[in-house]
Amino acid sequence: MRKNIVAGNWKMNTTVQEGISLAQEVNGLLKNMKANCDVVICVPFTHLVPVNGVIDQNIVGLGAENCADKVKGAFTGEVSAQMVASTGANYVILGHSERRQYYGETNETLIEKTRLALENNLTPIFCVGEVLEERENGTYNDVVKSQVEALFSLSAEDFAKVVIAYEPVWAIGTGKTATSDQAQDMHAHIRNVIAEKYGVELAQEISILYGGSCKPSNAKELFAKPDVDGGLIGGAALEAASFIGIVEAFN
Ligand code: 13P
Repeated sequence: MRKNIVAGNWKMNTTVQEGISLAQEVNGLLKNMKANCDVVICVPFTHLVPVNGVIDQNIVGLGAENCADKVKGAFTGEVSAQMVASTGANYVILGHSERRQYYGETNETLIEKTRLALENNLTPIFCVGEVLEERENGTYNDVVKSQVEALFSLSAEDFAKVVIAYEPVWAIGTGKTATSDQAQDMHAHIRNVIAEKYGVELAQEISILYGGSCKPSNAKELFAKPDVDGGLIGGAALEAASFIGIVEAFN
């Protein structure tokens, strides 16, 4: 059975000291409950090592928010998948819409990043999602299909290790969540696209998370949908209580 996962994406927020406190708080709250899903926090590169020092990864997993599309060398300012793995992290968010939009990430660089993440035993949390215009002009299913297809040169064995996050760009940080039906329709579509390439059995094993203004008040309804296997959480992951409130949607 595929895993349910609630993952936090801290984005470019918190100092190292604030991040350590937040991670400690999340770890502490989770220790005192029985979470019915995997919980992961994805933090800025600078925070990976110190945060790893204060969490128990049996309780909360650790991830980065990006990695380089090159192995190593003269790429000033970049952080490789191997470097991320060497911090103790086990996950990496790839292809977030903010990376696609502001830093020009393309399908070509994202397949390289995904390959390198997998080679270094990191679980990619691969983000897809349409912008508002594509939602409104009805092309959203095709847009998301082509984003998922960017990974179709992976072997079935490798693709099976990827977590997909559907994040409609119009719902990110806007307070405007997709309805649970909109999320379910897209998640089922993504699963069909995967099934056409890799078969139904593999498609059923892929965790597909929803992201975009997910909060404790709407998480339960979203996660109740059959193809929604958890969430990728931005703003609400910056406060331990609200993040745990979302984890509790699975209880
Ligand atoms: P918000 O939860 O702040 O809308 O952000 C979602 C997101 O982008 C997670 O990656």
